[in-house]
Amino acid sequence: MKQKNLRILAIESSCDETSAAIIEGSDSPVIKSNIIASQIDLHKITGGVVPEVAARAHCEAIIPVIEQSLAPLEIELFGKKSDQTIRNVLPYIDAIAVTVGPGLVGSLLVGVETAKALAFAGGKPLIPVNHLEGHIFAAMQQVLNSKPEALLRQAQDGEQSRTINSKQTSNLKVQNSKQFEKLDISKLNIVSNLEFRISNLLPAIALLVSGGHTELVLIKDMFDYEIIGQTLDDAAGEAFDKVASLLGLEYPGGPAISALAEEFVKNSKSQTPRLPSTWHVGQVNSKQIKSLKLQTSNLELASNLEFRTSSFKLPRPMLKSGDLNFSFSGLKTAVVNLVKQLESNRDGISSQTHLGGGGAKRDLLRGEKQAIAYEFQEAVAEVLVEKSYQAYQKLSTMNYKLSTILLTGGVSANKRLRQSFKERFGDKLLISPVELCGDNAGMIGLAAFYRYKKQIINNKSQISNKFQIQNSKPILKSIIYNLKSAFPWKAVDVDPNLEL
Ligand code: KG4
Ligand code: ZN
Repeated sequence: MKQKNLRILAIESSCDETSAAIIEGSDSPVIKSNIIASQIDLHKITGGVVPEVAARAHCEAIIPVIEQSLAPLEIELFGKKSDQTIRNVLPYIDAIAVTVGPGLVGSLLVGVETAKALAFAGGKPLIPVNHLEGHIFAAMQQVLNSKPEALLRQAQDGEQSRTINSKQTSNLKVQNSKQFEKLDISKLNIVSNLEFRISNLLPAIALLVSGGHTELVLIKDMFDYEIIGQTLDDAAGEAFDKVASLLGLEYPGGPAISALAEEFVKNSKSQTPRLPSTWHVGQVNSKQIKSLKLQTSNLELASNLEFRTSSFKLPRPMLKSGDLNFSFSGLKTAVVNLVKQLESNRDGISSQTHLGGGGAKRDLLRGEKQAIAYEFQEAVAEVLVEKSYQAYQKLSTMNYKLSTILLTGGVSANKRLRQSFKERFGDKLLISPVELCGDNAGMIGLAAFYRYKKQIINNKSQISNKFQIQNSKPILKSIIYNLKSAFPWKAVDVDPNLEL
């Protein structure tokens, strides 16, 4: 059964990236283009996103970005790029997908209204996508593109722990390797290869960490999501940004903190650790050794820089809270206090000191900043990985046979976090490729592709989205109702119970 090629133009504008992408394929969606116009330079001035500024920047960028994303297709179809790219290429697009929330309302509106206009002008179906679902699909990207034969062979050889559920086995009838050799892969289209590949990953837990979100999501079945843990205050990315700003680093803070932490590790390696005489190495357990390594490195730096703090150990908030929630504002406050303490240390190296209005203050030394960045990053990574592991254990006791842990969102670009998740979850882990970690339309198109295909395969007229987002914004609900009334004749409809 040969499946029809599907080509989607996807648009994302939920925060401070204006992005458009082309996603194409018959069964394996491929991101053909993924243009991202970042507003970082604008927000550096204010040290964070100002919603009004972001919305205006989206207005300026949206059409050129869409045009750029369509340019390769125009060249493929017509041999050259024209100055009428959108008009020329729109007839060759099957559907338009757009992020409808959560996000900044002014920013979202730019993408949604543009998508509506294009869908209306071209007579195309419109696929509304939840931003968080987009991030989840970014983490599944490598599986969406893999060959089903490879997955089957692995399952067959017992090389991976993913469970094939009864629905799949009854379709596949591949219980032993002999049968597998005779298997006609095209028969898998009974369910669709794509659906097989996705359901093979479920149930799953996704940790979604970005500037606006820190959420543990249980994916029971595709489109059946439950948020099982979330931050009670700041998102992890927000904490990175705030701590970076405290250390005098530019927005966005995540990459800057990560770079400083790496400098710290490099410096520590190049120095011989020296233990304080009061510590008895023979008596410490492995956990303490871990913290000992950190402390000795700090002390080594301290011996050069004359730190006045006895230790740079920061708290691991909510690690033992018994639930699956997070909190990062206390961690940020701990850094504020540490920085204040260091700055008020008047015995610092004299050339670095200056007199402020309220008394002597000195600038933080580079070594101090490196040590703080390192310890902060360790604290965030430890909390995120251990809470995810607690979720895994908790769900396992509730008889969920979890197949996959997904790590996604802007913060999942962090090297240390990726490394600790790999160590903790091994081959059960799927991480978003670095180029899809931050906000981008490619991931929105991947989610839309699957939704659209599912609708065709199962002949469903409804797209449902069960993400329960707190503080739902009525204005977004009205956008959805507008969409519904603007396109009553379209094949792709919107669930009236959509929660945004
Ligand atoms: O997903 P994203 O692009 O936008 C939101 O939906 O928020 O995430 C942006 C966040 C920012 O807070 C940024 O500092 C953080 O992701 N980030 C990182 C890294 N790269 C980006 N955080 C830690 N380490 C990184 N390497
Ligand atoms: Zn995001």
